Amino acid sequence: MVEIDARQRLKILIGGVSLLALGNCGGGGSNTSTPTPTPTPTTPTPVGYQPTSGLFRNQYRNNFKIGSSVQTFHIQNSDPLIDVLKDQFSSMLAEYEMKPDSIAPTEGSFDFSTADTLVQFAEDNGLDMQGHTLLWHQSTPDYFFQGSKDQIKARLQNYVTEVVSRYRDRISVWHVVNEVISDADNGPAGPYRNSNWYQAVGSGEFIDWAFEAARAADPNAQLLINEYNTEFPDKRGRLLQVVQDLLDRNIPIDGVGHQCHLDLNDSAESVFAAIDAVDDLFAGLVNHITELDMSVYSDPGSCWETQTNCDTDYGDNLPESISKQQAQTFRDIFNGLILRPSVETVSFWGISDKTSWLNTIPTTRTNYPLLFDRDVQAKPSFRAIVDRFYEI
Ligand code: G3I
Repeated sequence: MVEIDARQRLKILIGGVSLLALGNCGGGGSNTSTPTPTPTPTTPTPVGYQPTSGLFRNQYRNNFKIGSSVQTFHIQNSDPLIDVLKDQFSSMLAEYEMKPDSIAPTEGSFDFSTADTLVQFAEDNGLDMQGHTLLWHQSTPDYFFQGSKDQIKARLQNYVTEVVSRYRDRISVWHVVNEVISDADNGPAGPYRNSNWYQAVGSGEFIDWAFEAARAADPNAQLLINEYNTEFPDKRGRLLQVVQDLLDRNIPIDGVGHQCHLDLNDSAESVFAAIDAVDDLFAGLVNHITELDMSVYSDPGSCWETQTNCDTDYGDNLPESISKQQAQTFRDIFNGLILRPSVETVSFWGISDKTSWLNTIPTTRTNYPLLFDRDVQAKPSFRAIVDRFYEI
């Protein structure tokens, strides 16, 4: 394992550069709302601000793609958020349907039905498709971890080969491994999460196996390691240590996915520090923001561990000050990301507040983490990102 030396670690810990939040200088797109379209008799007349079609993706088309996670039933139910996806986004990824639990619930058989639906939808609607995720310690049947090391390796590489080959040249970016880095310093598995994968294999070699099989199955796809809390220097240091080791051993990795599940305690600068740390150390790698959302709660760790001392539920009464703070932070983030050419996609983990995982994790509560409200209407956070003249 390559140790990052003191100078490099100091560089990582210093983090990124604090940037002036510049006015959005993304190209194209009108900043004026279009007149409310005359709705067909079966749909309610939309109220409030109606963004011009394509406004969001066009604003940033010279910087990065704009993505969101989606679930098949949103499409099957013609959820209005799908209209927003088609109208405003340029990339998508499966929130669940491309995980091992969904594709290979029983050993020896594959069910690509829901994944195929999403990939076909992306192609039919001109959206780029990312593959989330080939290897994770969650949403993975237990049989993946059974048998000898060689059997586990063969099973994993067969799975990765089956999945990536099926979507060769149709999925441009794969989250090859997800959340394989330890949350704690000096854990039993060193920089690695002491997961079912690590315990079954006895090392981080499973990461190598996944990347090598993915590269062989689709040489044109971008291969990422995807991780949360890269905004925090300690976890970021462990991630970069693992990435350095992969590169030193010529394991085929192309970039880092930063999940960016933020809350109101997080700053735009902490996101930039994550991007800049990768850029500083690994000039040849790319960065993707893969699961962006911003909880309106700033819960202590106990809320995540034991659902205790969680912030009080706002219910239907989110204070305007919180809404404004979220909008400003999202604006600051986008103003800084457009200054970082290594960022290739900014994907949100959902479009509408109503479907966010944060309404049930870490506790059941009304959250407001995304750009569109429960009626799938654009929030101040959306307007702050697409309209530099919008006063928050
Ligand atoms: O769709 C099936 C349904 O057919 C079945 O009857 C039901 C019974 O269990 O399960 C349904 O699947 C659920 C799926 O979401 C779709 O709703 C799974 O149980 C549930 O575990 C799954 O949760 C997802 C979770 O990852 C685990 O895969 C969340 O939607 C998703 O938001 C969350 O996303 C993760 C990222 O992948 C990694 N980063 C963190 C992020 C949040 O936890």
